[in-house]
Amino acid sequence: MNILLLGSGGREHAIACKLAQSERCSKLYIAPGNAGTAAVGENVDLKADDFEAVGRFVQERHVEMLVVGPEAPLVAGIADHFAETPALSNVMVIGPRKQGAMLEGSKDYAKAFMTRHKIPTARYQTFTRETLADAEAFLDTLPAPYVLKADGLAAGKGVLIEPDLATAKAHLREMLDGKFGSASASVVIEEYLSGIELSVFVLTDGSHYLLLPSAKDYKRIGEGDTGLNTGGMGSISPVPFADKEFMKKVEDRIVKPTVRGLRDEKIDYHGFIFVGLMNCGGDPYVIEYNVRMGDPETESVFPRLKSDVVELFEHTAHGTLDECSLSVDSRTAACIMMVAGGYPESYRKGDAISLGTDIEDVQVFHCGTKNADGRLLTNGGRVICTTALAPSLPEALLKSYNRAADINWEGKYNRRDIGQDLLKLMMGQ
Ligand code: AMP
Ligand code: GLY
Repeated sequence: MNILLLGSGGREHAIACKLAQSERCSKLYIAPGNAGTAAVGENVDLKADDFEAVGRFVQERHVEMLVVGPEAPLVAGIADHFAETPALSNVMVIGPRKQGAMLEGSKDYAKAFMTRHKIPTARYQTFTRETLADAEAFLDTLPAPYVLKADGLAAGKGVLIEPDLATAKAHLREMLDGKFGSASASVVIEEYLSGIELSVFVLTDGSHYLLLPSAKDYKRIGEGDTGLNTGGMGSISPVPFADKEFMKKVEDRIVKPTVRGLRDEKIDYHGFIFVGLMNCGGDPYVIEYNVRMGDPETESVFPRLKSDVVELFEHTAHGTLDECSLSVDSRTAACIMMVAGGYPESYRKGDAISLGTDIEDVQVFHCGTKNADGRLLTNGGRVICTTALAPSLPEALLKSYNRAADINWEGKYNRRDIGQDLLKLMMGQ
């Protein structure tokens, strides 16, 4: 079948590689894609938020499956557009409809969903400008640090963790006064959870689910988790502390009630659920839901999938995921992200990239790259990443770092400590 994948990052390059591997995929289109996806399929110049144009392309090219990489088109209702347009309603869409996408699109909606279904998460309340006094009174009841979350989508920047009460109150006001535009017209204030974070990925058809491998990402720009937040500077899969016992808790306390909750509330959901979790002394708590795969978690999770992803997606669309099982490579994947100098603040685009030489069992995924005049150029903050598969975490890291060292452009930067925290944990330090 012909497949259209929406998105342009490393996540989409990693998904595209798996789709293209499937015998069930005859033609793969990626919109808009990057220089990496251009080597796996055909990039098309479509905007994901122009549903009419996407729909026309799908009809013209006889596309049978639409895979949505990022959250924005889902929150904006692309799956609803396809379901409600007669000429498109037979297209399999991987990604939830608007209502399901609210799990990511509104923190308040997600927290209320968790409360209704008794899913463990931090205690919270939601406030608006009208209830500022109540918000301040609620902050007074909490211990430091304070967690303030813009209710709506804020490009990953809408969460503030404040060390003291005065700063928390000042920033709360700024948020309610429009710091993140309409996204922070409502603010969720919640208890701070201390522990180690990990991401768990679920593929669901709305009734059944498959648990994909876990992963850990590294959000800060600086080594030792310092400095500004980024889209993600690397990822490791699996997460060593997410052992059988912990994952059973995740499944029983979080995944099952989430999928059951969607079904009971008649929320039509065919796609990924990305559960951001905190491991608090061995017990999992939900920090957030996303309605898509993570980036750069996908770049370490997808290379480990041995199952035919197109087949999994067909079952996801048709509600028959119970007929599938997942086959996963037992090796560890280590993904190292390389970024443009200056990122996540202002950075340059258009620098020439030299790709170096391939190594066995290491994949190179493009994020912000493009081809121009026969040259490969940087075209984003996160530029390119390497993912190595190896029998152990130290070996995977070594291989991935070796490959990354061979990729160059002016101003290239990567963290050198990806996975070190996990190695220390494993050694009991
Ligand atoms: P989110 O956008 O909800 O993923 O939040 C961004 C980051 O803020 C998370 O990845 C966590 O590191 C942190 N965070 C969010 N909520 C909490 C919380 N309740 N306690 C501690 N850290 C949090
Ligand atoms: N890596 C975190 C995210 O994709 O949101």
